[in-house]
Amino acid sequence: MKKVITYGTYDILHYGHIRLLKRAKSLGDYLIVGVTADDYDKTRGKINVKQSLMERIEAVRSTGLADEIIVEEYEGQKIDDIKRYGIDIFAIGSDWEGKFDYLKEYCDVIYLERTKGISSSDIRDKNRAISLGIVGNPPFLNKFISESKLVNGLKIEAICTSNIEDTLAGFTDIPIITSDYNKLLEAVDAVYIYSHPTLHYQQIKKALRANKHVLCESPITLDITECNELFELARSKELILTEAIKTAYSTAYYRLLLLAKGGKIGKIVSVDATCTSLRDIPNNTTEWSSIYSWGPTGLLPVYQLLGTDYSEKILTSHFVDKNSSYDVFTKIDFIFPNAVASVKVGKGIKSEGELIISGTKGYFYVPAPWWKTDYFEIRYENPLDNKRYFYQLDGEGIIYELVTFVQSIEQHKASIYIEKEVTEAIVEIMQDFKNRINLKTI
Ligand code: CTP
Repeated sequence: MKKVITYGTYDILHYGHIRLLKRAKSLGDYLIVGVTADDYDKTRGKINVKQSLMERIEAVRSTGLADEIIVEEYEGQKIDDIKRYGIDIFAIGSDWEGKFDYLKEYCDVIYLERTKGISSSDIRDKNRAISLGIVGNPPFLNKFISESKLVNGLKIEAICTSNIEDTLAGFTDIPIITSDYNKLLEAVDAVYIYSHPTLHYQQIKKALRANKHVLCESPITLDITECNELFELARSKELILTEAIKTAYSTAYYRLLLLAKGGKIGKIVSVDATCTSLRDIPNNTTEWSSIYSWGPTGLLPVYQLLGTDYSEKILTSHFVDKNSSYDVFTKIDFIFPNAVASVKVGKGIKSEGELIISGTKGYFYVPAPWWKTDYFEIRYENPLDNKRYFYQLDGEGIIYELVTFVQSIEQHKASIYIEKEVTEAIVEIMQDFKNRINLKTI
């Protein structure tokens, strides 16, 4: 029996795919189709696949052409599969001409002519792109805009900034650059807000009232009543309101959560997260202090692993001077019913930015800077049992955050990466900090 194998993403299955599968099948007696997993696709730069892995597998199955469907999850898997399944022919579209010649050592490699005039990318692009307006200033805008260009289905239409001169010079291809927030709202479907946290509440409210979806840098607000009001407004208008914490969207961080919750280190008894950086421009009045810059990121693994029902918490801050509200350093200690947590954040001090999650069987160790998670280890008493995990993180992770936002808008559902309770619990800490409740100073 002659066995043939082929691989693809098969997003929004089209006749180009079907023609390829038919021809691949006719090369032998048994066709195996490898459908690429979402994570593997991300590492190949396909970052805005519309359908989930299950939907894509179902679509391939419904063609009736595959005798067997497998999932492609890692680089180098093709060689493994060819050996394991005793493959005679590897077939792929001519857009890959030459790229898989290295497999000739293991089986025949056949490139089949690609069907002209159709591709999943074209179909994705035909659906109207979401136009996004950004509220923020350079230099942060540079990173954000360059990563956003890699997300299809999204176009940056406008920037609202207080620094018009530098923005005009830096972003000549953005149609609208203004200091008028209303003008920005008129021109877009959705907004991304990166302004000082004290401005978020008014800006989000205005955007939601104008029927715009909102992605807002965390913390969303500094007051829990305001936060609930905004979520209620978004719900009543069927709009997406979501928090931007880049770490939450990284594959490695998400996998770590699943492994930790799945019991890999037994019962979790302690979560310790540290995030620090030095000040950009000291004494800049619009600068975000430690708790605003790093608090949400540091709190994320605590709430996502231990929940938000802690019994006690205490904040300890060091301010630049007695009358200042700028904390150079804040430590937040929690007591949960069966665990403890500690978050250290600093903007103006430096420490080892690691994340350690301790359990009854072992611990997770995520080296600095843990918030740009691409690698972590699970360590046990016997070092021979230790495991290392690596997942590619492209850029700063802004791409994944934006892809998730676009998908939430298209599918009319909140993202799974940051739960509403987590957003609320983050706001509660900000509120306590602002009102100096449960707060000691050093
Ligand atoms: N294919 C083809 N003709 C097309 C499109 C795809 O023969 N018009 C083949 C590809 O060469 C590959 C398989 O179908 O062997 C799966 O391709 P995939 O990458 O999933 O589809 P594309 O439409 O090329 O997706 P994209 O636009 O995202 O690259």
